[in-house]
Amino acid sequence: MLLMVGRSISSERNPLGSVRVVTGTSAPLFDPFTLRGVTVPNRIIVSPMSQYAAVGGVATDWHLVHLGRFALGGAGMVMVEATAIEERGRRTPGDLGLWNDEHVEPLARVASFVSANGSVPAIQIGHAGRKASERRPWHREGPLTDEDATERGEPAWPTVAPSALAYGEGWHVPAEMTAADIEQMLAGFAATAARARDAGFKALEVYAGHGFLLHQFYSPIANVRTDAYGGGFEGRTRAVVETAQRIRTEWPDELPLIFRLSATDWLDDGWTVEETVELAKLLKDAGVDMIDCTSGGIGGDRRVSFPLGQGYQVPLAEQVRREADIACATVGMIWDASYANDVVAEGRADMVAIARELLDDPNWPLHAAAQLGDPADFSGWPVEAGWWLSKRHRATTKLNLRP
Ligand SMILES: Cc1cc2nc3c(=O)[nH]c(=O)nc-3n(C[C@H](O)[C@H](O)[C@H](O)COP(=O)(O)O)c2cc1C
Repeated sequence: MLLMVGRSISSERNPLGSVRVVTGTSAPLFDPFTLRGVTVPNRIIVSPMSQYAAVGGVATDWHLVHLGRFALGGAGMVMVEATAIEERGRRTPGDLGLWNDEHVEPLARVASFVSANGSVPAIQIGHAGRKASERRPWHREGPLTDEDATERGEPAWPTVAPSALAYGEGWHVPAEMTAADIEQMLAGFAATAARARDAGFKALEVYAGHGFLLHQFYSPIANVRTDAYGGGFEGRTRAVVETAQRIRTEWPDELPLIFRLSATDWLDDGWTVEETVELAKLLKDAGVDMIDCTSGGIGGDRRVSFPLGQGYQVPLAEQVRREADIACATVGMIWDASYANDVVAEGRADMVAIARELLDDPNWPLHAAAQLGDPADFSGWPVEAGWWLSKRHRATTKLNLRP
C-alpha cells in the first residue's frame, strides 16, 4: 500500500486517517490545508446538506451512499448535514441526531468510509431553536401542522428559543429559554461533540447560522432578552462563545473546530459583518479554528436584498479572514472550477464549500482537477474507476475519437 506524500501519489485505497491527494494539477484549489493536527488534502468542502432521510435521528444507508460518493469524488472534507444535539432541536422529523449513543454507530460507518477513501470526515452539529418542528421542504416549506400529523404521522413539537418570537407568520411561537434550558443546550453541544469524536469524525462544525438557535442568540432580530444572554453584543454572543468553550472540553485538541456563522442578516436592524469579525476573534480565543461564512436566514417574512451571483458571499469570508485573522471558508453559488481556484489563490478564503453543484456532480473535485491541470491524469480517481477511464482516454486520444 502506498502512502501519499506531496502530489505524485497513487490512488490506491488508503489506510484510515490518511488522505488522498488529487493529482495532475498544481492549482491552489488542490493544495493541502492543515488545521491543528488534520491535513485536508485539498480546499474543497462538501457543504452540509440535510437529506431529511433519518429515522428517529438515526443515519441510514442513504447517508452512507450520499456522503460516500463525495469522498470517491475527491472532496477534501466531507461534512455530514446538520445533526441535532437534542430531539427538540431537530429542524424536521427526518433530521439526523447525535443526542444519544444509538446514533453513533451508523455515523461511524460514514466517518470510516470517508476516511478510508482519503477525505476528512466532518460533521455539523446544531439546534434549530424556533425553526424546529418544520416540514420537509418538499411537503411545502413551513412549520409542521395538523395535516402532517394526520397524513404522515409527524406531529409538531414544542420549540424553544432565546425569546418567545416566532420565525414568521404561522410559525410556532417558541418558549423563551430558561437558564436551565441554556445549560441543557451547552451540555448537549459538549456531549454531542464527544459522540462525534467517538464516531471517528476529524472535524466538527457548529451550525450557528441560517437563523438556527445560536444565530437566534446573536442576532438582535430574534433575541430581545434582558438577562446575561441578551442585550448588547457581549450578551447576545455569550451563548455562542460558551458553546465553543464547552465543546473544547470534549473535542480533542488535535482536531479542528469550525463555526458556521451568518456573517450578516442583510437587514438594517440586524447582525452585521463588523460584528461577525468581533465574534470571530472571541471564538478564536475559545479554540475555534475556522469560520464558515454564510449569511441570512433569520428574517422570516422580512424581505432581504443581497447581490446574488457566483461567489456572492466571498466578500464576507474575505473580510472576516483579513480582520479577525482566522481561517475562513466561503460558500454559496460556486460552480466554476477556475472561479473557486481564484478565490483560494487570491487568499480571499482558505476553503470553498460547495453544496448544490456537488449534488449535480459528485465528482466535481476530480473534474475540477482535470480542468485546472492535466485531463489525462486519472491518478486521483479511485483506482476502480481511474484505471478504466485512463485506458479509455488513451484509446480515444490515439484514435482521435473525442475532442
Ligand atoms: C439539500 C440542501 C440541504 C442543506 N442543508 C444544510 C445543512 O444541513 N446545514 C447547513 O449549514 N446548510 C445547509 N444547506 C445550505 C448549503 O450548505 C449551502 O450553504 C447552500 O446551499 C449554498 O451553497 P450552494 O450554492 O453551493 O448550494 C443545505 C443546502 C441544500 C441544497
